[in-house]
Amino acid sequence: MTNAAREVERLRAELRRHEHLYYVADSPEISDAEYDALMRRLMELEKEHPELASPDSPTGRVGGKAREGFVKVRHSSPMLSLDNALNEAELRDFDRRVRELLRGESYRYMAELKMDGLSTAMRYRNGRFVQAVTRGDGEIGEDVTENARTIRSLPLRVEADEGLRDGFEARGETVMNRRAFERLNAERDANGQARFANPRNAAAGSLRVLEPRVTASRRLDFHPYFLLVEGEPALGSQSEALETLERLGFKVSRQRRLCGGVEEVLEFCARWEAERDTLPYEIDGVVVKVDAVAQQRALGFTAKAPRWAIAYKYPARQAKTRVVGIEVQVGRTGTLTPVAVLEPKEVGGVTVSRATLHNEDEIGRLGLEIGDEVVIERSGDVIPKVVRVSVQGSPRKPFRMPARCPVCGGTVVREEGESASRCINTNCSARLKQSILHFASRGVMNIDGLGEALVEQLVDKGLITNVADLYSLTVEQLENLDRMGAKSAAKLVENIGKSKRNPLPRVLAALGIRFVGERTANFLGDSFGELDAIAGATVEELQEAEEVGPKVAESIYRFFREPRNQSLVEGLRQAGLVFSQEIKRSIVGPFHGLTFVLTGSLPNLSREEAKRRIEEAGGKVAGSVSKKTHYVVAGEDAGSKLAKAKQLKIAIMNEEQLLALLGD
Ligand code: IVH
Repeated sequence: MTNAAREVERLRAELRRHEHLYYVADSPEISDAEYDALMRRLMELEKEHPELASPDSPTGRVGGKAREGFVKVRHSSPMLSLDNALNEAELRDFDRRVRELLRGESYRYMAELKMDGLSTAMRYRNGRFVQAVTRGDGEIGEDVTENARTIRSLPLRVEADEGLRDGFEARGETVMNRRAFERLNAERDANGQARFANPRNAAAGSLRVLEPRVTASRRLDFHPYFLLVEGEPALGSQSEALETLERLGFKVSRQRRLCGGVEEVLEFCARWEAERDTLPYEIDGVVVKVDAVAQQRALGFTAKAPRWAIAYKYPARQAKTRVVGIEVQVGRTGTLTPVAVLEPKEVGGVTVSRATLHNEDEIGRLGLEIGDEVVIERSGDVIPKVVRVSVQGSPRKPFRMPARCPVCGGTVVREEGESASRCINTNCSARLKQSILHFASRGVMNIDGLGEALVEQLVDKGLITNVADLYSLTVEQLENLDRMGAKSAAKLVENIGKSKRNPLPRVLAALGIRFVGERTANFLGDSFGELDAIAGATVEELQEAEEVGPKVAESIYRFFREPRNQSLVEGLRQAGLVFSQEIKRSIVGPFHGLTFVLTGSLPNLSREEAKRRIEEAGGKVAGSVSKKTHYVVAGEDAGSKLAKAKQLKIAIMNEEQLLALLGD
């Protein structure tokens, strides 16, 4: 080893130790400045000696190159959700079911805090962090490895025990603590960007950005709650799993308790409900799990959740405050949404100053007038809302939906049978601003750097009259705007240019057609393949796409009949956006969601061929038979796997039957 290599190794080990002391154990031994100095030295060395680079180096924490999108990854086993218990009686019901199903065996519960973030799977191989996958739909998530690497409390290297050495997965919650959340929102206010409604949205928005540097700046934390090997619990009990994760260097929540029975669980729940505001991060309840994995297996799963665990949910937190005004916001489709402006009030550690009122009917239902004292509520994942009027104000002033749009002065109408009032001026600048923000947003065209303050200026100065104009903006036009310089202007023009490469479904979603979000856009792209085919389709034809019903089809049809929208589409075509894609023949194969096991030798297909054919049809092929197996395909000389399948009463088929299912 060269001297440089030795120094690099030493620095990395030292930095890892200090990271753990600081971010996990919460007991730093050196100052931030000393830490920074070590990090700088390591960066220098890695720059001088690129051959020494390594993905698990602490320098990776600062966030490397941006990416264009996220790759989809299948989970090693589904990431399910939990059933909820909303009160003590429901928790006792859960306990009774467990007791009955375990028929007299004694059992214990692990009680853990239910943190409010997003569940993520962190994969390790040979003691190194190799991949992070978001929950997604539970079966398939998104690869966010580069972003997760910047989470300081996530160990990039661990001294794996026997049994974990080849590979393991730590599943847990990625969260943003309250301090980081408040700081982020203050920053966003200052930059004229939209606030995040709660720490959970902020954590999700920070992990799913294309720019790892942004994640790095957001100070996320990862708290694991499962330890898996090949998708199955790695140890005999949940308590051992958590202890092991702790020993490996993960930040496992200390607030947990192994309970002898439901009474102890209830005590734990009550204690943390009373003390939840003292925690640095948001919790929305307690997760209760049967501790022994053998008993978990015996209890099994319902269609969507385990029978051996439950989420005891705390009620949403409420507080009282006064409504000092009601503002009206104009959305991208012209919808007018009344928003209550509140005397700022802390609700469960987060300061709330606005709450949505949805529409006129909702205000009527609440009997709300300006000046009233109201009860507001914040539950983990939603925007704060007004629950009821607690004391009528004096004076108080009724709210009336304006007859003219507060932004453009255009006519406001409320159609028969609809609860929403709408500004019908398609040239309304509020609508245009919102359309541009939608167009540029995450998950749509992903144009970084195009925030609210900038869009305001672009529209107000007449630089943009429809979204297609974005593509002809020049550095010269941009650099003279407020809070812009030559450099950020050039960067923005570059980002806008890059967005031209977004695939067709993104472009479709970006158009802002009512009811057409990311999901529907994907289905439309899959069945039509061309924007022009969608634009030209009849209402009936549109309904041939998956999940497109009459209402959605009608909305798409009408959109493309408007001259204004037609010229927008032409503008985007001129700009060179992607208007076509290959049509996927089968999106999900006939075997989607099914697990097969192959045993014995098949008359015609080799093992590899059979496996490939099953996988092409969307199925999975597993090595051994378990309760999760759907079919065993048996050939000549099938041995113990066949016996096991019979014992577990799993469907058995031969090659001929398999080929028939495959449509041969
Ligand atoms: S166990 C199948 N443990 O709550 C088991 N979940 O509704 C599911 N969560 O999606 C997860 N803290 O995002 C578990 N200590 C904890 C948790 C926890 C937070 C979240 C997780 C999950 C949701 C369950």
